[in-house]
Amino acid sequence: MFTHAIVKKPCHTMIYGITTANLGQPDYDLAMKQHAAYIDALQQCGVQVTILEAEEAFPDSCFVEDTAVLTRKFALITNPGAPSRKGEIASMIPVIKQFYPENNIEYIKTPGTLEGGDVMMVGDHFYIGISARTNREGAQQFINALKKYGMSGEMVPLSTVLHLKTGLSYIENNNLLIGGEFLENPAFSHFHHIEVAAEEEYSANCIWVNGKVLVPAGFLQTQKAIESLGYEVLTVDTSEYRKIDGGLSCLSLRF
Ligand code: GLY
Repeated sequence: MFTHAIVKKPCHTMIYGITTANLGQPDYDLAMKQHAAYIDALQQCGVQVTILEAEEAFPDSCFVEDTAVLTRKFALITNPGAPSRKGEIASMIPVIKQFYPENNIEYIKTPGTLEGGDVMMVGDHFYIGISARTNREGAQQFINALKKYGMSGEMVPLSTVLHLKTGLSYIENNNLLIGGEFLENPAFSHFHHIEVAAEEEYSANCIWVNGKVLVPAGFLQTQKAIESLGYEVLTVDTSEYRKIDGGLSCLSLRF
């Protein structure tokens, strides 16, 4: 169960966020409305939400998930692989220190890079995507930290997606939303697969929060598949974040 979430309001410069999406520039005002609805959905799941102010110097800074990994036993401060995002860490460290004692905070150090979007938590085991943003050195540093706290991790090389959780979401009870390049990956064969249709691939990024599942609005096949497993689904429109390669998980840290 999660008790807390951390989010950061989108900044006006989000319209210049890193993107491969070809969907046009985000509408800032609509993004703010969608952010408020996202916070409301998290609150409906029973978590206390810490809302950080926007940081104009960093267009992608609303995607707080990439700056930290918050486990049951320790917090990891990451080192984003995207050069324009490295500075996002500075303002996150004091926030994380409000929730974790200093000696339970670990740091990814250069030349290691790691972004939280590449980390999928399954209990005390963590899958770590090796991507354009997360390198093997960063993943190994994280695995070493996990071992120190009696937890474990493994690396999963990515071929096409931005982050691991662009194409996978663990929604508990052995259920894994899975699409695209991961479908045949033996690392995930022991999960119950909820296959995400190619035309709905964006909806492979959902989040489980205390028994409910947040699903991006407009992806009915995925929504129905999750509902058929007995989950209550809350839909949240993330159209403006999709334009800058962002999804539901990217917008919060849940712990
Ligand atoms: N625009 C989100 C990212 O590329 O990190």
